[in-house]
Amino acid sequence: MPSYTLEINKQRTTIQAEADMPLLWALRDKAGLTGSKFGCGIGQCGACTVHVNGLPVRSCVTPVSSVADQRITTIEGLATNNHLHVLQQVWIDQDVAQCGYCQAGQIMSAAALLESNPKPTDSDIDKAMSGNYCRCGTYIRIRKAIHTAAGFYNATQEVQS
Ligand code: FES
Ligand code: FES
Repeated sequence: MPSYTLEINKQRTTIQAEADMPLLWALRDKAGLTGSKFGCGIGQCGACTVHVNGLPVRSCVTPVSSVADQRITTIEGLATNNHLHVLQQVWIDQDVAQCGYCQAGQIMSAAALLESNPKPTDSDIDKAMSGNYCRCGTYIRIRKAIHTAAGFYNATQEVQS
């Protein structure tokens, strides 16, 4: 069986897998990172969203061979130096999750949005998050949390500049 080396959450990780194994399975079954969830398996629901080189991708339809040597970030790697990402903290503070199943994917999409657009409007948020479904209907709380996190995010950037 071929092997692929990926940088997962800042750690080089070698995974033995068939070339067409979905990245989601490699993360969950080979690397033991079960935060990314399986929802639809066809790239439609967003539950499996991770970052590849900082951009959100649907790991259920991404062959592991296509991301060899690439930088993968999962929900487990979003925190830095034992500090939760601002989105994770706001998600907790505002009780965004209901059942929670979709929320790792929601946060990963939201994190990619804030990286590219630190001051998103409602419509920016709706557009960026439109591929992430929530069967519990937490969309209003998600949008509010992203606005709150954006406020903290921008305040931090101003302090650092
Ligand atoms: S499980 Fe990947 S998009 Fe639904
Ligand atoms: S919180 Fe239940 S599916 Fe989104």
